[in-house]
This record gives sequence, C-alpha cells and structure tokens, in this order.
Amino acid sequence: MKTDIGGSKCGQYQGRRQSLIEDARKEKEMLGSSSVGTLENQDSLVFEEDQERKTTLNLVFTFGKDTKTGFSRTVKIFETFAAQIQHIESRPARSSKSTDDLEFFVKCEIHNSDISALLNALKKVADEVSTVKEEKVPWFPKKIRDLDKCHHLISKYEPDLDQGHPGYTDLEYRKRRNIITELAFNYKQGDPLPRVEYTAQETATWREVYRKLSSLYPNHACKQYLDAFQQLEKYCGYREDSIPQLKDVSQFLKERTGFQLRPAAGLLTARDFLASLAFRVFQSTQYIRHHSSPMHSPEPDCCHELLGHFPMLADKEFAQFSQEIGLASLGASDADIEKLATLYWFTIEFGLCKQNGSIKAYGAGLLSSYGELMYALSNNPEYRPFDPEMTAVQPYQDQTFQPIYFVSENFDAAISQLRQYTLKIKRPFSVHYDPFTCSIEVLDSPPKIKNALDHMKEELRNLCFALERAFL
Ligand SMILES: [Fe+2]
Repeated sequence: MKTDIGGSKCGQYQGRRQSLIEDARKEKEMLGSSSVGTLENQDSLVFEEDQERKTTLNLVFTFGKDTKTGFSRTVKIFETFAAQIQHIESRPARSSKSTDDLEFFVKCEIHNSDISALLNALKKVADEVSTVKEEKVPWFPKKIRDLDKCHHLISKYEPDLDQGHPGYTDLEYRKRRNIITELAFNYKQGDPLPRVEYTAQETATWREVYRKLSSLYPNHACKQYLDAFQQLEKYCGYREDSIPQLKDVSQFLKERTGFQLRPAAGLLTARDFLASLAFRVFQSTQYIRHHSSPMHSPEPDCCHELLGHFPMLADKEFAQFSQEIGLASLGASDADIEKLATLYWFTIEFGLCKQNGSIKAYGAGLLSSYGELMYALSNNPEYRPFDPEMTAVQPYQDQTFQPIYFVSENFDAAISQLRQYTLKIKRPFSVHYDPFTCSIEVLDSPPKIKNALDHMKEELRNLCFALERAFL
C-alpha cells in the first residue's frame, strides 16, 4: 500500500476503542504546553517549523500480529491530536524476517505542544515507534506572488547608514531616495510597475554615465550585450537625455526572454535575490546614484541595473543561466547560498567571456562601471577559466576592483558547467519551474517526477516531429 492522503480522510477508519482515545485526550490535557521541553531530549527529531508553530513529523512504527486493529487505533490517535496526515506508506518491516510483517511511515503536521502526547499515545498501540530525521529546508517561494515576501534588505551601503556613501550628508538626496524606495516597499506582485518622474539633476547624472560607458561598449562588451543594447535604444527609450522606466524595459524583456522586473528598495539578501531569478524575475532598484559621484555607487542603482543587467537579460542563453542559478538556490543551505552568491558575483556581476579571440565583458558590475571595465580588460588583473567548483569558493571584493576575473568559453558551456555543479548541491528534492503557472514544483516523490517527465516527453515528441518534418 502506498498512498498520499489528506488529514480529512482519517475519518474513514473505524473500529476505535474509546478508552484509548480518552487516554490520549487525557495525556494531551496533562502534558499541554509543557511537552515542548520534552521534545528537546528526542535528538532524532528534526523538524521544520512554520509560522503557526506547527511541526512536520515523520514517524515509523510497526504492529504486533493484529495490524488491522492497530492501524485503526493509530489513525484515531492522529485524529485526536488534530494531526494533519500528509503521507502514509506501508512497506515490509525491516526488523522482521517475515515479508508479511509491515512497518508504517506517516508524515504529519502537528502543533508543537502535542508532539510528546501523540508519541506516548502511539507507543501504547504500536511497536518500535521512531521518528525519522528530516532535513530542515529553509522556506522558499513556490508561486510568483510569494516573491512579495522576498524583500529582505542588506542595509550596509545605504546613504542613511554608510558614512562613505556620497549622499550621506545630503539630506535632500536621502529624502528623495526614500520616496523612490517607498514605491518598492508598497509594490505587490502583479501591480503595474511604478513610474518615476526623474528630476533634471538625476537625468544629468544618467547622461554623464550613459555617455561615458556607451563609448566603451563597442570594444569592451560582448556581442550579446551589444545586440541587446542596440535593441533597447531602438525600442525601449535608451538614450542619454531620459532615464528608461522599469515598466517599459520589463515589457521588452518579457517579450524576448520571459524575464520581468519588480522594484527593489535596495541591496537584497542573496537568498531573496536568487529566489526571484528562479521565476525569471529580476529585482531592480529605481533610485539613482548621488550626482557628486556619477562614475561610482557603493550600492546598486538604476544606472547599474539599466546599463549593467538589463541588456544581458534580453539574451536567451544568459536568461537561462540566470534562472538556473536561481533554481539551484531554492531551499539550499546557507553554505550553498553563499557559494551560489559567489558564483553569481563572478559571472552575472563580473563575468568575462571569450569572443573571436579576445576577452569581452558580460558582467553587470563591469558594464556599469567605467573604471572597473577599463581595469578588467587591461593587462593588470588575473584571468582564470570559469570553473564553478573553484569560482564558488573564491573570496570576492566588494570595496574595490576584483583581483581575479573568471572567463567563460561561452554561455552554453557555462550553463552546462553550472548544471553539473548544482546537481551536487545537497537538497532532499529537485525543483521544476512551470512557466504556465509561474510556479515551482517540488519534485520530492515518484508521482510528481513522473508527471514532470510525461510533460517533457510530450514536448520532446513534438520537437522530434518538427525535426522530421524539417528534413522531409
Ligand atoms: Fe547587480
């Protein structure tokens, strides 16, 4: 027997013994909230808590000879403690020589305060009751609207806090920046992207940055960037006398690679930022750097996003590469998030690639920084071939230029290397992005994996058919 059932189906099992249920109820009343302390001694219990203080519990137990009666009683215990059963599975008992003996695996969700009482009640009707260790998986967004919860900021480079920020002593600038970041704080997925009426001073800053950087692109930027930049100038209002609006660029990207933008209030945590990439969503700032320092900003600003990131997001392979890093980050441990953030840093922010025998920039941190773009393509820094294993652990520099840059052969090769790398990230599940519902499917059971495979088979069949027709 192998079945996934919801808690509401528990009622179908009959034959309970009233006294047993009463026992369990009494225990529940007696133990009450004090049972949380008892839990700490059960070192095999590792659980994932949600905001309502519930726990996911994995249990394994067997019965003596009368499995049928024992199982009915067990189900009633789960009912008594309002445990939401998520999965029940039976299998031949590992502790028994007879293949007729079964052991049961139950995954359920229960209030923390009821765990000890439930276990005690269970031990009275079942044998060999044990809890199975479950890896604690950090929360991650599964639907695109969950990105409304992915807005945690790292505030170390903000002008209100960082004395080294060029706008630190300019109260007017700080006030203006706060007005623009407020738009991001109030934004909800699906809202129209807010337009910002930039001032003459802000546009003058943009003009200076745009002029200087666009003069470098023909010799320093990779082909994909140059192609997209040309398109952005033609169709998306990229010009020196006007700062493009997120709404227009988002629409442009959506049509080309399915990427869309959402406003961010500043520098996000790596986990939140990477998670949004999994949905082909790029979180972008809208305020602009301080006018006194047009060639440098300690934090991301609209010059960095518009000139550094967005052109590359119009390239299909690069968009795929970005989403793959995002997908790999979902539910990853803190240590793996750090490695993925480092990979992101040395590729999407500071990546170089080979093209026609020379090295070109594709990283946003380079393409939005006059000084570092010149430096990265001079003879001074060290170049290393992109190798995710090595790149992921390379210490990086966020205060000055990088001493080392990683060079990819091409995006295809980089995606393939990245995939190999992410397969080694330890997660008790895989994920699949459904572009129709813009949601993440967690592939943690054979039926789900089979379902995803069936969809892929259909697509493959369609492609094979197209291929055959093409050669007719
Ligand atoms: Fe960036």
